[in-house]
Amino acid sequence: MSTSTLIIRRPDDWHVHLRDDALLGAVLDATASVFARAVVMPNLRLPITTTGAALAYRARIQAALVPGRRFTPLLACYLTEAIDLSDFRAGVRDGVFSAVKYYPAGATTNSDAGVAEFKRVYPALEALQTLGIPLLVHGEVVDDHVDIFDREAVFIDRVLAPLRRDFPALKLVLEHVTTVEGVAFVTDASGPTAATITPHHLMLNRNAIFERGLRPHAYCLPVVKRERHRLALRAAATSGNPRFFLGTDSAPHLRRLKEHACGCAGIFNAPTALACYTQVFDEEQKLDKLEGFAALHGAAFYGLAANTEAIELAKSNASHTAPDLAIGPDAIRVFTPPGGLRWQVSKLPCAS
Ligand code: DOR
Ligand code: ZN
Repeated sequence: MSTSTLIIRRPDDWHVHLRDDALLGAVLDATASVFARAVVMPNLRLPITTTGAALAYRARIQAALVPGRRFTPLLACYLTEAIDLSDFRAGVRDGVFSAVKYYPAGATTNSDAGVAEFKRVYPALEALQTLGIPLLVHGEVVDDHVDIFDREAVFIDRVLAPLRRDFPALKLVLEHVTTVEGVAFVTDASGPTAATITPHHLMLNRNAIFERGLRPHAYCLPVVKRERHRLALRAAATSGNPRFFLGTDSAPHLRRLKEHACGCAGIFNAPTALACYTQVFDEEQKLDKLEGFAALHGAAFYGLAANTEAIELAKSNASHTAPDLAIGPDAIRVFTPPGGLRWQVSKLPCAS
């Protein structure tokens, strides 16, 4: 039985993995039915590095939409050291690219074509700064000598701080921020600086990966950290600071590839993400700050108008667990936080 409802402006997801082919068809509506726009990550097996590839991918996403859905995919260009800047500029001019994604080479899924030496992309960053297009950064060093739990903090010192200094007007987003150090950097940096925060980094600490056994469905990159980091993320997300906004990093992988000797990194949360965020803001007694985080701050940072539709959520007395999403003979595990979910979307977007 429902005890309370909440109506907010329809949100956007500023960081999502929609994949391609059958996986795209299976996961897309979980995002498109709730979020008005989403920044779609370009780390396909063949990364989206050109305007032509982006146009074709956008068309595949649009073709996979449920008829009548009002959803706009915003594409990010995958940054390589060999980026073709004239093609990229044309893509921006034609409204194909909304952002550029910086993966350190080897940091995560399909990142081998990413950036090995950050100074080599300085000409591209110069262009981005002039165009006013955001650089979305996967902020982890790829260095076996650095403990995996320290890789974000070390990346900030080695790469992000120099980038911030050398490109003072560049729009910089520390994607899926996970640490106290990341929150401090984003809060204090000069120039247009922001961070996205995922539901799972707000709801899990690193114990979740080892809870009475190895838990591949709690494994993502950057990995979830100590409790004090989770608490810093919750404070940042619910603070009302416009530098922090919603980005789910929903990253579907088949169960057989997660439950594996070398399980893939990524948590699929699209079906529950908005309910998870709402639950966090409710627990923090900051529901009044949810709309800013979910529907206003990101759009303002990207220089886009806020959505005008509304969405309704309801809270019930009993908690529930989201069912897996079936795909062929396999399935994708949907993120449910420890203790279950009490919130859920109760009315899909409608004109407000
Ligand atoms: O956990 C993750 N999964 N982190 C990433 O950076 C990439 C993503 C994916 O594409 O699976
Ligand atoms: Zn991601």
